Amino acid sequence: MRLFTTVAGLRCYLHLRRSEQELAGTKLADVNPVTVGLVPTMGALHRGHLSLIHRARQDNHLVVVSIFVNPLQFGVNEDFQIYPRTLEQDQQQCEQADVDLVFAPTASELYGTDASVNNALTQVLPPAAAIASLCGRFRPGHFEGVATVVTKLLNLVQPDRAYFGQKDAQQVAIVRRVVADLNVPVEIVSCPIVREVSGLALSSRNQYLTEEERSQATVLYRSLQQAEQLFRAGNLKSSDLLTAVQAELTTTPALKPEYVELVDPVTLAPLERVEESGLLAIAAHIGSTRLIDNVVLRNRQPILAIDGPAGVGKSTVVRQVAQTLGLLHLDTGAMYRAITWLVMQSGVALDDQPAIAELVSQCQLELENQVKSLLSTPKVWVNGQDVTLAIRSAEVTAHVSTIAAQPAVRRSLVKQQQQYGRKGGIVMDGRDIGTSVFPDAELKIFLTASVQERARRRQLDLKNQGQPEVNLEELERTIYERDRKDSTRSIAPLRKAEDAIEIQTDQLTIDEVVAKIVSLYHQRLASLPKNY
Ligand code: PAF
Repeated sequence: MRLFTTVAGLRCYLHLRRSEQELAGTKLADVNPVTVGLVPTMGALHRGHLSLIHRARQDNHLVVVSIFVNPLQFGVNEDFQIYPRTLEQDQQQCEQADVDLVFAPTASELYGTDASVNNALTQVLPPAAAIASLCGRFRPGHFEGVATVVTKLLNLVQPDRAYFGQKDAQQVAIVRRVVADLNVPVEIVSCPIVREVSGLALSSRNQYLTEEERSQATVLYRSLQQAEQLFRAGNLKSSDLLTAVQAELTTTPALKPEYVELVDPVTLAPLERVEESGLLAIAAHIGSTRLIDNVVLRNRQPILAIDGPAGVGKSTVVRQVAQTLGLLHLDTGAMYRAITWLVMQSGVALDDQPAIAELVSQCQLELENQVKSLLSTPKVWVNGQDVTLAIRSAEVTAHVSTIAAQPAVRRSLVKQQQQYGRKGGIVMDGRDIGTSVFPDAELKIFLTASVQERARRRQLDLKNQGQPEVNLEELERTIYERDRKDSTRSIAPLRKAEDAIEIQTDQLTIDEVVAKIVSLYHQRLASLPKNY
């Protein structure tokens, strides 16, 4: 692991590593670009930060952690001077977490001047509405400081993805907004809050708390849980949910609430009712320490995500599962097939990514969402044309992997999949549903089978279709190669989500796999609050 404290060192290192890897990639005739993940921090790293680093490590070739206590985001009476600075320990933790580079500049290195005393700096101003609620109301200048430093770090590192903790929910929403408004080419990944067993959300500022305060602070999460319970029981009214939080908070007089608000998680505008989702957030002082916490309330039915490699019988299983459980089914594979069909139909070369990006962003893709019967395949339309059968052709099958690996295609279809699933009550199958499309799905299944078994099944399928016989070893090689491509591609690689349940299907019939998933779903449903 390398440590750099200057912009020059950082840039030079990243440039070299990118070209090195690109060279290695070219030699392997691999089309995957090198991906970089950035985890911006202010140091004093704890398990919350490590969860971001861990996620970045899974997703990218290179991981950069920035450690910078940003003077620009602290108010005059805030804790900039005493904020914990533990660079040596942070470095050790990064080393252990297999980080490639730590960037720890001084304020004058990053701003060219001491930003806390000098206002002569170009700043990024988030929209007024986004800073009018929650912390924005009580910390004037804070989000301008965050937006400015994050924009600078994104420009310096030029990562493919940047990782933020959901504990700072307003920060995540504002960074997403800034990145969208300024067309910064980065994916913002938000990771779940990490809590102590007591429920206290991890924060570098917890170091300020005495033992007694630490135990008093647990009321924050308890109060959010009270509201969550009420919400799950069917009460979607903001005033009732806020009252439930406040009632619990009053049980700990040592804690002085600054605000308790329920806002839209994206626009941050106050809500009267939770129609789809609401961000319930608190800030409070305990002694001289200011703490924040939040939960997202989702008014949706559960989502069942089924991922796994090609040839495990996913589509058949998923359709039967949807039918048995009465869930909607979204066949995400059909969406990638539809785009592949469109590309081939339009005569655009399969590697002309810019032209394909244009095609995808202008295309109208419609899927019949309902599983009507096991016999009829759900219909698919591209720009109004029924392509249900056409997308199953051998040509489309041969090229769908290439098209699905293209970032623009992926981005566009993932957005549409999230839109389809926003109300829940759906089963989706693919390669990255549990890891990237719905990382918060209530149940995630990862279906696998050995390469040998999948080759054997494929051979049988081909025979049943009256196709010429293909040698088993040849099929095994093709499947092995497809797995390698799918799991090493830089965009949405095939990977089992950590909280997914793996089902090895070698010795199981389709009916047995379906029965297993249905039973897991019922178990999961039983463990969820009533009104889910
Ligand atoms: O969340 C933080 O630690 C900081 O606000 C950030 C994103 C590193 C910007 O200074």
